[in-house]
Amino acid sequence: MSNLIDGRAIAAQVHAETASRVAHLRARGIQPGLMFIRVGEDPASQVYVGMKEKKAAELGFRSETRVLPAHTPQEALLQLLRQLNSDPTWHGILVQAPLPRGIDAPTVYGTVAPSKDVDGFHPVNVGKLSLGDPSGFVPCTPGGILELLVRSQVPLDGAEVVILGRGNIVGKPMAAILVQKTAHTNCTVTLCHSGTRDVAAHCRRADIVIAAMGVPEFVRGDMVRPGAVVVDVGVNRIPDPANPGRQRLVGDVAFAECQPRASRITPNPGGVGPMTIAMLLANTVRAAEQTAG
Ligand code: GUN
Repeated sequence: MSNLIDGRAIAAQVHAETASRVAHLRARGIQPGLMFIRVGEDPASQVYVGMKEKKAAELGFRSETRVLPAHTPQEALLQLLRQLNSDPTWHGILVQAPLPRGIDAPTVYGTVAPSKDVDGFHPVNVGKLSLGDPSGFVPCTPGGILELLVRSQVPLDGAEVVILGRGNIVGKPMAAILVQKTAHTNCTVTLCHSGTRDVAAHCRRADIVIAAMGVPEFVRGDMVRPGAVVVDVGVNRIPDPANPGRQRLVGDVAFAECQPRASRITPNPGGVGPMTIAMLLANTVRAAEQTAG
C-alpha cells in the first residue's frame, strides 16, 4: 500500500465541504467575496494567486485580483485596504507575500481588518492562535498541514514533532497549532532553525518531521527515524541539469531517500500545496458566515 499522504484528495474533500457552505450562504442571498491583492510581478506569486482565484470562482465565491505596480507607495496600498475593510461585500482580503522592497509587511498585514484576515497574519489573529482562542483565523499552510495529518489519522496526541524553519507563515504558527491542548494536537514541539546545533539529531528523534526552511532536499534519508511521518512544505527552484538554462522545483525533503523509511510522507507537488488553497477558502467562507450571523 502506498504511504503517500494525498494532499489533492484531502483538499478535494475540504473544497466539497466549503462549496456546500457557499451554496447555503448564496441561498440566503450572500455570496462570499475574496479580494486578492498582488503588488509587483513576482512570477511565483502570479501563479499562486491565479490558482487561488480560479478555485475560489469554481466553488462559487465572488473573487477579484487587484494588481498594483511594484513601485506603488505603501500609503496607496494601505488606502486600498482601508476601503476594502469598510466594504461589506468583501469578506476576505489576501495580500500575497512577498511584498516588494519599500513596503513594510507588518504594517500592511496589520492594516487588514482582523475579521477579514483570512491569511491569519494580523497580530490579533496571531495572538488568538497563540492563546488557543479558536475565534481567530489560522494561517493557511500550517492549518492545512494539521488537516492533512488529522484526516490521514496520524496520531498527534503526545507525538514528538520537529519543525524545521521559524518563518511567520509556516514554522512559527505550525508550532503554535501543535502545542495546543486539544483532542487533535497536544504535541511536543521542537522548532529548529539556522541557529540549531544538530538538526539531524533532533530529526532522528521525531515522530513527525515538518520541513519548512526553504533549503532544497535538506532532509536526507538518514535523518528520518524508521516509521516517522514526513511533511514537505518546501518549494525551491534549482537549476535543472537535464535542461540547461531551465529550473526545476524541489522540496525541502530528499523524497526518494525518505519515502522508504517513512510510515507516511507528503508528495511534493501534490501534498501541502493544495491544502493551502483549501484552507484559504474554508477561512473565507467562515468569515462570510460570521458576518451573516
Ligand atoms: N506567500 C506564500 N504563502 C502565502 C500565504 O499563505 N499567504 C499570502 N498572502 N502570501 C503567501
